[in-house]
Amino acid sequence: MEWILGRKHGGKRAFTKGDRCVECHGEETETIGQLIVSGESEKELEPNLIPGKRGSIPVTINATHDDEYLYLRFNWADGDHAPVPFVEGGKMDPENPMKLAFMVATDEVEYADRAGCWGTCHADADEMPFAPENQALKDSELAARLDLSAGVTKYLTESRTKIELKGRRGKALGGWDKLKSEGDLTAAMAANQYMDLVRYKSGADEVEDGQIMAERTMHGGQGAEVEASLKAGTWSVVVKRKLKSDQPGDVSIEPGKLYNFGFAIHDDFTNGRYHHVSLGYKLALDDDQAEINAVKQ
Ligand code: HEC
Repeated sequence: MEWILGRKHGGKRAFTKGDRCVECHGEETETIGQLIVSGESEKELEPNLIPGKRGSIPVTINATHDDEYLYLRFNWADGDHAPVPFVEGGKMDPENPMKLAFMVATDEVEYADRAGCWGTCHADADEMPFAPENQALKDSELAARLDLSAGVTKYLTESRTKIELKGRRGKALGGWDKLKSEGDLTAAMAANQYMDLVRYKSGADEVEDGQIMAERTMHGGQGAEVEASLKAGTWSVVVKRKLKSDQPGDVSIEPGKLYNFGFAIHDDFTNGRYHHVSLGYKLALDDDQAEINAVKQ
């Protein structure tokens, strides 16, 4: 987000005024992805290149619902293995050929209406350019309030008192250490300022439910059922999730409302930030205004 709102992004002004990523980039995700993975982007967005990695994945989403459940079917073609040169054995997460995550948020979350998952990604997250040193994380008094054992995770702007966007006089971008008080965080959760998150790991055949607010937590929530298969070179992931939930960190999906939806795929045994991320889309029940329109079965 610091890059999106910073000096090097041509869309900054219009984005701040309300334009969505898809309005400008919806037709060019393939081109942008290729520029980034090949290192040809003038923006120098990716220093750690993986030769042969594909820049994008065309994914089809089929969405339906009944009275109780939302069903999402994701389909995409598996790619060739591109060994990662900076990881022994070439696979970052050898246990999991593929991981899929999706998130749902209401408009209460700043930028979720425009940016989908991108709003949770900050320049000081683990493996990002301004990730703090391990020692700084250990020494921080915030280690008592955040799980910093695997670095700084995704977080929402609402959870911080300040986020550095400009980086003048060498200031680190981001705001991981500017955590609001517990009282403010509780109030933000109560005001639906969180992103509901479901993740599936193909090797472990495991479904996790969690949310992103002050940090990414992968426990809590009502969960979901996932059936995944790789047949004749095509991944198929079918998610069955209750529309309504009374669990904290979950978003209940009701007719007549638009929700913000984004998803990410860890393709080819990747981990951490090396995933493909969708732009932000709208999800709704029986509403063809939404890009992901779940139709009644
Ligand atoms: C108002 C239109 C607009 C919006 C909205 C917008 N962008 Fe951009 N984006 C641009 C322009 C213009 C460029 C710059 C092209 C250039 O300078 O070569 C750009 C560049 C980029 C690039 C760099 C591509 C490269 O050359 O490496 C990425 C990545 C990107 N935008 C992502 C996003 C994301 C993610 C969002 C939403 C959070 C977003 N943009 C919102 C207009 C927009």
